[in-house]
Amino acid sequence: MTTMEQRVTIREAMPADAERLLTYMRQLLAEPEIDFILSAGEFTVSVEQERQLIERYAMLENYTFLLAEAEGRIIGVLHCQGGNLAATRHVTRLAISVRPEWRDHGVGAQLMQAAQGWAREAGIVRVELEVFARNARAIHLYEKCGFQHEGRRRCAVYRYGQYHDLLMMAWLAEG
Ligand SMILES: CC(C)(COP(=O)(O)OP(=O)(O)OC[C@H]1O[C@@H](n2cnc3c(N)ncnc32)[C@H](O)[C@@H]1OP(=O)(O)O)[C@@H](O)C(=O)NCCC(=O)NCCS
Repeated sequence: MTTMEQRVTIREAMPADAERLLTYMRQLLAEPEIDFILSAGEFTVSVEQERQLIERYAMLENYTFLLAEAEGRIIGVLHCQGGNLAATRHVTRLAISVRPEWRDHGVGAQLMQAAQGWAREAGIVRVELEVFARNARAIHLYEKCGFQHEGRRRCAVYRYGQYHDLLMMAWLAEG
């Protein structure tokens, strides 16, 4: 018997994925009360811009753009954006999402593991992120992957008619 996790493959995004990625992103942003800073109306990327973005991610050593796929569909996305100054090139900022029907099946963990493997190989020292303080599932995943809490940005975001705190978390490749 195969589990859902066994049917999932993780790979780097390619320019040809641009259109499917935009569809994925639009569906995600349409979710009610998704814990993202970006709102649906603010996401105005064209297919060509997305293609260029994917190329840029592939070119830069401290950037990565990973996809989880199953049954020919994109079911999860993780990307890391590195610092572009000499002083911050060792740092990368992570963002992750998984399709609703695939959540709680280990896809997020597989993507995180792939990103941490990539970070070690790329010589990244620090992977950092920010997460809504109410996003218990994401926080649990990050803690499970060795991310530590570094602080709280109170009322940093205004979404869905209220202010939200953001938690700062980070993982160091060398522990
Ligand atoms: C956060 C997200 C990427 C996690 O991906 P995922 O595939 O669901 O993650 P996994 O299945 O690998 O792990 C989820 C873990 O959270 C746990 N979990 C689920 N709901 C929880 C809750 N309310 N409180 C605490 N833990 C919870 C699960 O039990 C699982 O832990 P376990 O493996 O120890 O049992 C995904 O849920 C998502 O896309 N959410 C919407 C977008 C988002 O919030 N992105 C993060 C922005 S910072």
